[in-house]
Amino acid sequence: MTLEVEGLGIGGLVRDVSFGIERGERVGLIGESGSGKSLTALSIMGLLPEELAASGSVKLDGRELLGASEKELSRLRGNEMSMVFQEPMTALNPAMRVGAQVAEPLRIHRGGRNHRAAAEALLDSVGLPETSRAYPHQLSGGQRQRVILAIALANDPKLLICDEPTTALDVTVQAQILDLILDGVRERECALLFITHDLAVVASVCERVLVMLDGEIVESGTTREVLTAPQHDYTKKLLAASDLEASR
Ligand SMILES: Nc1ncnc2c1ncn2[C@@H]1O[C@H](COP(=O)(O)OP(=O)(O)O)[C@@H](O)[C@H]1O
Ligand SMILES: [Mg+2]
Repeated sequence: MTLEVEGLGIGGLVRDVSFGIERGERVGLIGESGSGKSLTALSIMGLLPEELAASGSVKLDGRELLGASEKELSRLRGNEMSMVFQEPMTALNPAMRVGAQVAEPLRIHRGGRNHRAAAEALLDSVGLPETSRAYPHQLSGGQRQRVILAIALANDPKLLICDEPTTALDVTVQAQILDLILDGVRERECALLFITHDLAVVASVCERVLVMLDGEIVESGTTREVLTAPQHDYTKKLLAASDLEASR
């Protein structure tokens, strides 16, 4: 198991959350705003705000992450595990060319200086050839999210977490980014934890899905099971409110 979360609690806001993700498996985490999805993701990355403490167990390839030192976590972040957030501008350095930003995780985790060619190849792979000299403000939102994805995938992580990665983007751009995420994780056999409130996105990206309500996982199963025969009232409501219901 690439990721094993057991009995995760976060300051009373998230309670007794358990799930696992195998290598190459794509798991969706859905639920209303405020249900604890982002906190769950941040706790895995060791990025919880200081005032919130996590309890339970989070293992990446068998290694316990909860309580790991900041030094150990920064060795893993951007290397063995990466996260893509909703808003790409805040995750980029406005004063640095994007090629240099894609080269950063290579420099930090692999050492050496000259990663220009590798960074250009990564930008190429997300559909941004000849873009390495651009600054973030010269790119569209979708292009910035492509850069973020190139950075996240640079070191072939074992785990990729995407937290609403397309929510801030135009609908037409969303599908392109989803395809790139799928290509990127398939190529590397990453475990993917994909957070969204969009059930249609879950249906197209994820093999399994976890449903979160008020800090707890209330339902889980294959995407087909959960989206065609939801058990929990909350999941039924989510489905009824989505476009998927109409297309069934
Ligand atoms: N730093 C914090 N301190 C206290 N409560 C927080 C903090 N961050 C988030 N919360 C609360 O935790 C709950 C879950 O938040 P979050 O994980 O961001 O939800 P989601 O991503 O599902 O929308 C929300 O009620 C939110 O207000
Ligand atoms: Mg969130």
